[in-house]
Amino acid sequence: MKIGVLGAGSMAHALGGQWVAQGHEVFIGGRDGCKAEALGAELGAQSGSLREAAEFGDVVLMGVHWAGIEDTAVAIGDAVRGKVVIDCGNPVEVEGFTLITEPGDSLGELIQRRTGARVVKAFNLCHAEVWQMRPPVFDGRPLAVPYSSDDPAAKEVVAQLIREMGADPIDLGPLYHSKDLEGMGTVIITLLFGGLAPRTVFNLVAA
Ligand SMILES: NC(=O)c1ccc[n+]([C@@H]2O[C@H](COP(=O)([O-])OP(=O)(O)OC[C@H]3O[C@@H](n4cnc5c(N)ncnc54)[C@H](OP(=O)(O)O)[C@@H]3O)[C@@H](O)[C@H]2O)c1
Repeated sequence: MKIGVLGAGSMAHALGGQWVAQGHEVFIGGRDGCKAEALGAELGAQSGSLREAAEFGDVVLMGVHWAGIEDTAVAIGDAVRGKVVIDCGNPVEVEGFTLITEPGDSLGELIQRRTGARVVKAFNLCHAEVWQMRPPVFDGRPLAVPYSSDDPAAKEVVAQLIREMGADPIDLGPLYHSKDLEGMGTVIITLLFGGLAPRTVFNLVAA
């Protein structure tokens, strides 16, 4: 699979690394070419601009901070329209640990409206350190990864990526549930900032 990664931070590092390890062709795109190049070289991935990564991927990870979503949407233009975009974001303002989205709305739905992509909300509930685990297994039980999307084919692509990393996909239903995943993300971030260790916070495991 050709996977474009928007952003060159912690989640780009963790998920991009997983996907390279699973044999996918990965392209890291950043607003800062040097950071994207360094991460691409470390992971064994190609690198370049945000737009190039968006054009490269059949599947694209939105791995930028929520404050950069609009700038990123401008940078990529219509390059992800109709494509599968994975949104792992938590639109949480960490001064007061509150969501920045309007009540009833979510980052996942906002990205879908803004880009015209087929968005799948996934991978937002665990710390990047957990996404680096190969495989993410706790006491012999695989991590369970909830995801939501309005598009059945897009969901199946993401479910396959979850299975390939050794985790269990959990289909939560339509993208509407993005706001619930983001609410859970707020609780998790509050706990992490409170000092709990990344591998101990909400690592839902398979039954
Ligand atoms: N870290 C985690 O444990 C974790 C876990 C689950 C979900 N998430 C979510 O994943 C997303 C990415 O988080 P992260 O931890 O990977 O963040 P990060 O390490 O801080 O990296 C953020 C990336 O966003 C880019 N960015 C910021 N503002 C931008 C803008 N205006 N235009 C374009 N790019 C911009 C940064 O570019 P520069 O490098 O040039 O600043 C960087 O590449 C966030 O929504 C976060 O809530 C994070």
